[in-house]
Amino acid sequence: MSLIYITGGAGFIGFQLQKHLEGKYDLMAIDLLAKNNVATNYRSRNLNNIIQGDIKSSFLDVLKEKPKVLIHLAAETGIAGSLVNPSKYFETNVQATFNLIEQCKNNGVKYLIYASSSSVYSSNQEIMSEDSNTSKQLSFYGTSKKMSEVMIENYCAQFGITAIGLRFFTVYGSWTRPDMAAYKFMNNIENNKPITIYNQGNVYRDFTHVSDVVKAIELLIEKIQNEPIGAHQLFNIGLGAPISVLQYAHLIADYMKKEPIINFASLPINELVSTYSNSCKLEQYIQFKPTCKAEDGVNEMVEWFKKYKYE
Ligand SMILES: NC(=O)c1ccc[n+]([C@@H]2O[C@H](COP(=O)([O-])OP(=O)(O)OC[C@H]3O[C@@H](n4cnc5c(N)ncnc54)[C@H](O)[C@@H]3O)[C@@H](O)[C@H]2O)c1
Repeated sequence: MSLIYITGGAGFIGFQLQKHLEGKYDLMAIDLLAKNNVATNYRSRNLNNIIQGDIKSSFLDVLKEKPKVLIHLAAETGIAGSLVNPSKYFETNVQATFNLIEQCKNNGVKYLIYASSSSVYSSNQEIMSEDSNTSKQLSFYGTSKKMSEVMIENYCAQFGITAIGLRFFTVYGSWTRPDMAAYKFMNNIENNKPITIYNQGNVYRDFTHVSDVVKAIELLIEKIQNEPIGAHQLFNIGLGAPISVLQYAHLIADYMKKEPIINFASLPINELVSTYSNSCKLEQYIQFKPTCKAEDGVNEMVEWFKKYKYE
């Protein structure tokens, strides 16, 4: 079985990806497993092959083992944090990503699939396609992801690496991150606490269930090795059916059979009003597009929350 490495392998998407790929590849996850990251530590206890390592330094030696494909998901995540502490985002999402591609080059790791984000898109665009405007981001998180795309594009052109960058659109589902709205909504609704909704409910997200994301990555692992389309390609992964965050909160509350208590607040300056993925390019390449509707995805996530919730 080919060896696949996953950075950020104990994160939300990394964990779900490993569970999905188990038995199909020889997998190894690398994760910081910071002591204060409860969710990551909780998930790692449910993983077979994981090593603790910091992509800013130590772990990079393991690339000498030459994985067939490196899947780079490790990042400083969340938009809000990048307003408070942008340097952390620079160190992990830009500097460490640079170290990583440099080591791919030095160790002959040929195939890279990495996480970018819908946050790279500039505001005021109704539908986001890969060639839509990404000249200005609202958040430094988005900028750090754009910088990683630009660096990787250059390394692919010059140093024989083949890479795919995935612009994820609000991924949700079981094992979600506690800092994401989905988890906060479930937790507060269950405990009869208020939830915060921005902009009088006029904020729209293209919620994409994690099961669709991991299926797409599985197909891309094969495609990148057998039918690459150029040295570097970017793909949106989104359902293509945005709903308001208010409607999403109500779906969660309805499934929990609770009435949400809602506090409205103004939209933070670094948040897009709406995201809407055109995922046609992905569909053309792998003949697959996300299909999990919000109703079904929310039910799956709430069922998980009832059993686990990182306690
Ligand atoms: N979840 C989403 O909706 C979403 C949307 C857009 C993009 N993304 C991107 O997808 C990727 C995965 O997101 P996620 O939601 O699973 O996030 P996550 O925070 O759950 O996972 C990231 C993982 O990276 C690890 N990590 C951080 N710094 C590290 C370091 N220096 N060395 C090693 N490991 C480190 C963390 O411990 C964590 O387990 C990230 O790159 C994120 O930016 C996610």
